[in-house]
Amino acid sequence: MAKKKVIKRKTSTKPTSKRSARKKTVTKKTVKSTKPQGKQRLQKVLAAAGIDSRRNCEELILDGAVRVNRDIVDELPAFVDPQKDVITVNGKRIKFADKVYFLLNKPKGVICTNSDPQGRKKAIDLIDCDQRIFCVGRLDIDTIGAIVLTNDSELTNRLTHPKFELSKTYEVKLKGRIDGDAIEKLKKGVWLSEGKTEKSAVKVIRRSHTESVLQIVIRQGLNRQVRRIMARVGFKVKSLKRTMIGNINIKGMRIGQYKKLTISQVNYLKKITSK
Ligand code: URA
Repeated sequence: MAKKKVIKRKTSTKPTSKRSARKKTVTKKTVKSTKPQGKQRLQKVLAAAGIDSRRNCEELILDGAVRVNRDIVDELPAFVDPQKDVITVNGKRIKFADKVYFLLNKPKGVICTNSDPQGRKKAIDLIDCDQRIFCVGRLDIDTIGAIVLTNDSELTNRLTHPKFELSKTYEVKLKGRIDGDAIEKLKKGVWLSEGKTEKSAVKVIRRSHTESVLQIVIRQGLNRQVRRIMARVGFKVKSLKRTMIGNINIKGMRIGQYKKLTISQVNYLKKITSK
């Protein structure tokens, strides 16, 4: 059987802080590399408690900031039972925050990542919430409309997994009059650098000589997919709005407005990703 990889931080000759010097005197937990039943990956548990992203939680673990039942765990993989184990980060016991779910009508000029070196406005900043939330998937900076934000990393991972292919409905305004030929191509899928896109449902809302407005429903979530498929059939996008995620829509919501998802909407998202 192939040996599982254990990730360890390289030990430097010089301790970088008092904490890393102190670390040497305490017990270190033995790391098992196969996932025991009923246990979860430590970084996943930390992320679910709102500490940071999974990636950054891995860093915290490797830095020796995390203890499980008083023992430092600084190797990966590491598995814990969040119900039984006492987990601390920098000496503070982690707490599991209540799950929150919001639907935002994202304005233009707002980004969907949680950190931005350019200091642009972030979707998370538009929501008054004490929990560490993040966007489920992405809308590009110029696109407006429906985006879900939550602290539920489990649901986020499932909703963004290609396997579930949740439908997303967009209203797209194009420069010029789109013809039947181009619409057929969009329906069948077009070639992008990632391969041929899946079929989509396309409806003309209105069109004139100068402008066309389409409704398009796609299930894939390629980067800037709508703009790129429109460019592929020769049309420039004047504006793009996501009106629905699955059956959850932003009808009646002002741009920049957000609301909590109802229990039935949350259950709907959980149900469609449970198969
Ligand atoms: N397609 C795009 O081009 N942009 C988005 O934000 C979403 C889908």
